[in-house]
Amino acid sequence: MTTPTDRITPDQLRTLFLFEALDADQLAWLAEHGRVEQRAGGTVVYAEGEAATCFFVLLRGAVSLSRRVHGDELEISRTDQRGVYGGATQAYLEDQSEKLYRNTLRAIVDSEFFVLPAETFAEAVRSWFPMAMHLLEGLFVGMRDSQTIIGERERLLALGSLSAGLTHELNNPAAAAVRATSVLRDRVAGMRHKLAMIADGRLDGTRLHGLVELQEEAVARVATAPKLTPMAASDAEDVVTDWLDEHDVSGAWDLAPTLVAGGADVDWLERVTACVGPADLEAAVRWLTYTVETELLMREIGDAVTRISGLVGAAKQYSQLDRAPFQVVDVHDLLDATLVMFKAKMPAGVKLVKEYDRELPPVPAYAAELNQVWTNLIDNALGAMGEKGTLTVRTSRDGDLLTVDVADTGPGISPDVRPRIFEPFFTTKPVGAGTGLGLDISYRIVVHKHHGDIRVESEPGSTTFRVLLPLTAEQPHPGGESA
Ligand SMILES: Nc1ncnc2c1ncn2[C@@H]1O[C@H](COP(=O)(O)OP(=O)(O)O)[C@@H](O)[C@H]1O
Ligand SMILES: [Mg+2]
Repeated sequence: MTTPTDRITPDQLRTLFLFEALDADQLAWLAEHGRVEQRAGGTVVYAEGEAATCFFVLLRGAVSLSRRVHGDELEISRTDQRGVYGGATQAYLEDQSEKLYRNTLRAIVDSEFFVLPAETFAEAVRSWFPMAMHLLEGLFVGMRDSQTIIGERERLLALGSLSAGLTHELNNPAAAAVRATSVLRDRVAGMRHKLAMIADGRLDGTRLHGLVELQEEAVARVATAPKLTPMAASDAEDVVTDWLDEHDVSGAWDLAPTLVAGGADVDWLERVTACVGPADLEAAVRWLTYTVETELLMREIGDAVTRISGLVGAAKQYSQLDRAPFQVVDVHDLLDATLVMFKAKMPAGVKLVKEYDRELPPVPAYAAELNQVWTNLIDNALGAMGEKGTLTVRTSRDGDLLTVDVADTGPGISPDVRPRIFEPFFTTKPVGAGTGLGLDISYRIVVHKHHGDIRVESEPGSTTFRVLLPLTAEQPHPGGESA
């Protein structure tokens, strides 16, 4: 390994601006631990995303530095300046996560590099420049922490406003269930009372039997009773009221709406008369009305409770609290859960159109974080449209990518604003209304964590944000990147 060509002398090292202030011992140490490597023009010296194992200094030749942005390779700089460096430049930072190359270095022409293993470089920096080390570490860690804190705050803001909406949504069925339960208690007490009267022996066994059968029928009718329009219901109530009046049943106006809502008609009332006889008709009709009413109340309670548990299910799906962070998910479940959370915030004049391609396979994803992406995009779309418009949420497949479109009919993004929307803190909203972090965070979640992409197309009256996610699994990196 130690051939004359892959060594460098301390004197040669001293000519590089990076090392000019080092003393003779330090230069000798570097010369001993590093090596010289040749790279042919056009080859990759190191690649973005790979484990950062070496620190490189250009000795001769020319290089280009690039980064992947939106799936495209973007050249950041190109130089033949002797002494420029790259690679494991942050090796000395004391953090747990595995360090990766943050960009790609290519040799443009045949080039020569001084190469130090990352650990050796880190050891030198740490022991020779302890104070600088602390300062740098403070800088990097501080920057990352503040990003995390700000991101967390944005997440909480979104959650806060959504949970306010959810609370509102939950309140209606909960109040309905409470109300219905209290009326039900009242009606059940009434039935107990009527039962005592029937038990007085005014009805013989056969007639009682017939009445119980009619009662069963009433319960079955409630289950299948068609939902009438207010007009149709009012007409049917008039007919029943007239019949009851003609048969001397008092309080017809009170009984008719319940009987009609439970699907009872004149035909059925005639059969009740035939069963119990005219003398007991009123008692029987009241008794059966109670049955219908309790049945309707129980149905109402059932609907309200189903609605509540549906909302709670959506909230759970949305927050993904008890789920593994990285899992294979159906994006439609995530989108639906997020849309439920928005229900209360959706103005009446905004139409929601879902165009889902249900054939799409589930994707490996950080589900809760993707929900945050949909939240940000939908929030922006609603914000752009105000009181009126159409929100379209569409899924489709584009080769080995799954696409989710969130489209709105708002005023669009003006061309001078367009290049800046993904910048952190960039907002066109009034102070206090926007943090300018929604798209920045969404971009990091989609691009850094899922290796996907976010694109936008906008013109007045039509803005579409498209999220592209790889359909095939990539190993999640444990620490994630900066997102
Ligand atoms: N659907 C949209 N229609 C029009 N402008 C949008 C839309 N989505 C985002 N923008 C623009 O991008 C800016 C940044 O969005 P974002 O990062 O979510 O921050 P914020 O919503 O807090 O302003 C918005 O202020 C707005 O100018
Ligand atoms: Mg926003």
